Order: sequence, then structure tokens, then C-alpha cells
Amino acid sequence: MTRTPVNVTVTGAAGQIGYALLFRIASGHLLGADVPVNLRLLEITPALKAAEGTAMELDDCAFPLLNSIEISDDPNVAFDGANVALLVGARPRTKGMERGDLLEANGGIFKPQGKAINDHAADDIKVLVVGNPANTNALIAQAAAPDVPAERFTAMTRLDHNRALSQLAKKTGAPVSDIKRLTIWGNHSATQYPDIFHAEIAGKNAADVVSDQAWLADDFIPTVAKRGAAIIEARGASSAASAANAAIDHVHTWVNGTAAGDWTSMGIPSDGSYGVPEGLISSFPVTAENGTYKIVQGLEINEFSRARIDASVKELTEEREAVRALGLI
Ligand code: NAD
Ligand code: LMR
Repeated sequence: MTRTPVNVTVTGAAGQIGYALLFRIASGHLLGADVPVNLRLLEITPALKAAEGTAMELDDCAFPLLNSIEISDDPNVAFDGANVALLVGARPRTKGMERGDLLEANGGIFKPQGKAINDHAADDIKVLVVGNPANTNALIAQAAAPDVPAERFTAMTRLDHNRALSQLAKKTGAPVSDIKRLTIWGNHSATQYPDIFHAEIAGKNAADVVSDQAWLADDFIPTVAKRGAAIIEARGASSAASAANAAIDHVHTWVNGTAAGDWTSMGIPSDGSYGVPEGLISSFPVTAENGTYKIVQGLEINEFSRARIDASVKELTEEREAVRALGLI
């Protein structure tokens, strides 16, 4: 191993996403096949034993890139020197529950974690919040970390992006790899808006290829937006392997960049682009290069899209008001 290991902190390491995520981080899928990692696992005290079990299994894989594993129930220890932080630990939504119900339960987790990141993480820290409600949890963590540049706090909408890619591929018969420039706007919730008006399928405009407005409005958008609930209904538990896969994709793209001519979707602090109020953590089309990302500018937003983006942004604004009233930001 010649490169300096990267410190990757994962919260909720003993949970179901953690179990699907850690082995892929350790095998090089998060940062690259030549980047060694130190894994720092944060769990609540009662789950430390289970985290130790996962760590034993990680040892048993003899991953050449896995330099060390540390387990802690103290955020100040787990985030010490962290270069990448994956905030997964949270209470998952159960059947019939909306994400809004989770605001209070999970808000309390992300404020102390944000503070620990502020006080102990490395200067180049990159944070991905997976735990729901992801956008607003990211806002809470970011508000508690005033010394960290705000744009380092991001929320995961890559799972929604990947879901939309698959649905569009199924409808058109095109391979996923032919689809570019798809966008998820807004919140990682049922109000999110998967936008195909700027997407391309093998170089052709996706909305023209589909040319079926009813499918778009009544099938595609609700299928993507409610997929999380459909998985819970089918599996009796929220998505785990696909969520872990999306977390890997999100960080890998952020660190290694988007492909030429394509973009991805990330929940990021708004700079006011596309009429999204500044500071809200909302999903945008972004390109990434050299470890930084930028919102894709200049897209024309039609009336159909505008109404749907506004509805999701309204929900994010309400979530921000709710956590403000709870004293979490
Ligand atoms: P899980 O219940 O299996 O695991 C969560 C783990 O977090 C548990 O081991 C728990 O002990 C731990 N935890 C709780 N509080 C903690 C704290 N303060 N510090 C550290 N660890 C803590 O849940 P899961 O299925 O792994 O899901 C985790 C979260 O991810 C949930 O909020 C779920 O809704 C969310 N999720 C988000 C997306 C997305 O696309 N953004 C997709 C799927 C799931
Ligand atoms: C998902 O999108 O699969 C998760 O966010 C689970 C959920 O609560 O919808």
C-alpha cells in the first residue's frame, strides 16, 4: 500500500444498509481500486456488539485495501480525522409512516453528529446523509457545523436517480448505459420530481422518445417517487442493498467526477438556482470534477416541471420550518 489511507466514517454500521455498504467500501468501490481505507464505525451502545461481528467478517475477507477498522459509540471519536462520512444511522421508516414523522426522532441524532464533524473531521471532509429524512437531516448536521463549508453536506437522491434510469430503460428498451442527463429535483420523498425533459437516450431527447405524457405523469413519476414505500411493502423492510449501492455511486461520483456529457443528481445546499430558496438541501442536476461539484445551469424548466419542482421545494421549506421550530437548526 503506497497511498495514504482515507478515513471513512459510517454511522449505523450495524444496520442493514451498513451491512451492504461496508464490504463494498473495503473492497475499493467507494474511492477506487488503489485507495486504502480506514473504516470508522459509529453505532449506538446496544449495537456495538453487532458492529463488532460485522468487523470480524470484514477481517475475514482479507481485503487488501482495508487498512484498519475502529468501532465507537462516541461521535467525537468516530469522526476524528474523517475524510468521508456516510451518515446512515437513523430510524428507518416503517409501514404507513411518512418521512415527516421521522423529523423529530432523527433530528436529535444529526445535530450532535454535525457538531462532532465540525470539531474533529479532516479539512477535506465530505458528508453524505442517507438516514431519512435525508435532506433535512443533512440541513441539521450542516447547521451544527459552521466551520465546515456548507457544500460538503449532501443528501442522497442517487437511489431515486438510479430508480428513474431503470424505469426509463424498461419503458424504452434502451440499455441504462445509453441514458444520460436525467435529473431528480427536490426532496428524497414522495414529492421528488424525476425529470426526463433534458434526458437523452442514445443522444435523442428522452421525452421525445417516450412521447407518452400519460405514462410520464401517471406511471413513471409515481413509480420512482413511491418506490421506497413499494420496497417496504414488498420486503417488510426499507431498501438496503440498493441504498448502499447508491451511496457508493454518490461518493464515487463526487470524488472521481461525472462522465463527459452526463450529470447526476445530488441533494445539495441550494445557491438559489432554479428558484430553490438558498440554503435548502434540495436535489439538483450536478456535474462533478476534482472532488467538487457544480449545479448544471441554464436548463429550461417547462410548466409541467416547474409545478412539480415547486411542490417538492415547498415540502422541504416546511421541513426546514419544522426543525427550526424544534430548535434543531
Ligand atoms: P437499520 O435500522 O437497519 O439500521 C440503522 C442503524 O443505525 C442501527 O444499527 C442503529 O443502531 C443505528 N443508529 C441509530 N441511531 C444511531 C446513532 N445516533 N448513531 C449511530 N448509529 C445509530 O436501518 P437501515 O435500513 O440501515 O436504514 C438506515 C437509514 O437509511 C434509515 O433512515 C432509512 O430510512 C434510510 N434510507 C435512506 C435512503 C435514501 O435513498 N436516502 C434509502 C434507504 C434507506
Ligand atoms: C427508500 O427510498 O427506499 C428509502 O428512503 C426508504 C423510505 O423510507 O422510503
